[in-house]
Amino acid sequence: MELAVEDFIKIRNLIYERTGIHFAENKIYFVKKRLQKRMEQRDISDVSEYYKYLRFLDTNQREFQELVNLLTVNETYFFREFPQLQVFAEHCLEEVAERKRARGDRTLKVLSAGCSTGEEPYTLAIILMEMLEDFPEWTVMVKGIDIDENVLRRAHLARYDSRSVKDVPPVYLQRHFTRLGPDSFEVSPAVREHVVFEHVNMMDRRALRNEKGYDFIFCRNVLIYFDDAARKQLVDRFYTMLNRGGFIFLGHAESLSRITTAFKLRRMGGYIVYQS
Ligand SMILES: C[S@@+](CC[C@H](N)C(=O)[O-])C[C@H]1O[C@@H](n2cnc3c(N)ncnc32)[C@H](O)[C@@H]1O
Repeated sequence: MELAVEDFIKIRNLIYERTGIHFAENKIYFVKKRLQKRMEQRDISDVSEYYKYLRFLDTNQREFQELVNLLTVNETYFFREFPQLQVFAEHCLEEVAERKRARGDRTLKVLSAGCSTGEEPYTLAIILMEMLEDFPEWTVMVKGIDIDENVLRRAHLARYDSRSVKDVPPVYLQRHFTRLGPDSFEVSPAVREHVVFEHVNMMDRRALRNEKGYDFIFCRNVLIYFDDAARKQLVDRFYTMLNRGGFIFLGHAESLSRITTAFKLRRMGGYIVYQS
């Protein structure tokens, strides 16, 4: 299959418009391989014909979704970026919980935006169970959202190999997982009951319209695939979804300072955190 630069640009602009994911020119081969696979499936041999199909005929965006499922980068594992999670667990969580206890409010809502195969939302649920000493008195909901349907299917299954759980502290591994085989672990029902998953494209304004009242939003290792305009749009949206005093956590390569001044910058446990 031939992929001329003009055709690549048309398709990558369509992907960007709808998902925020930006493919620079050096990603042409990565995109080409995935396009090829989809075009074979649909028995289309001409890229511009495929583009027209995506743009004008794919009214329910079923084909577009299939393409996106192939294009996302889903790398993740439990307890990723441990020091940041430590700051969340030991500083931010206690501050928010204390404020809520004082008001007699014992609900916590956490969002894992771009949750991939589920390791991050399950990690967050485990941290809440471990760190809140009055955990049984709380109603806790961790929501994982992702644009990729394949990863969400795996997240629901909650089964992982040893590579995914390599950073889980051994006592937590024992307490919150069932070993199904030498290289297979399942997250316990007690953790799973606090976690829900939803298929959401975060760049779709309507999709996040009713999402609010979050105490913590984690959007880690997602914005690196976006450009500045998409990052700003999303982070501004997150701001409106957070309770006052709530926190947002991004990946370590993703700083908010260039994108928005809406959040308060605080140093906690030697880390910069952003608070609404
Ligand atoms: C590299 S994974 C990060 C997983 C996890 N947050 C972590 O840090 O380990 C990035 C995820 O973001 C998702 N994603 C990318 N664009 C998205 C969008 N517009 N809406 C929802 N999810 C998106 C991808 O499908 C992918 O699963």
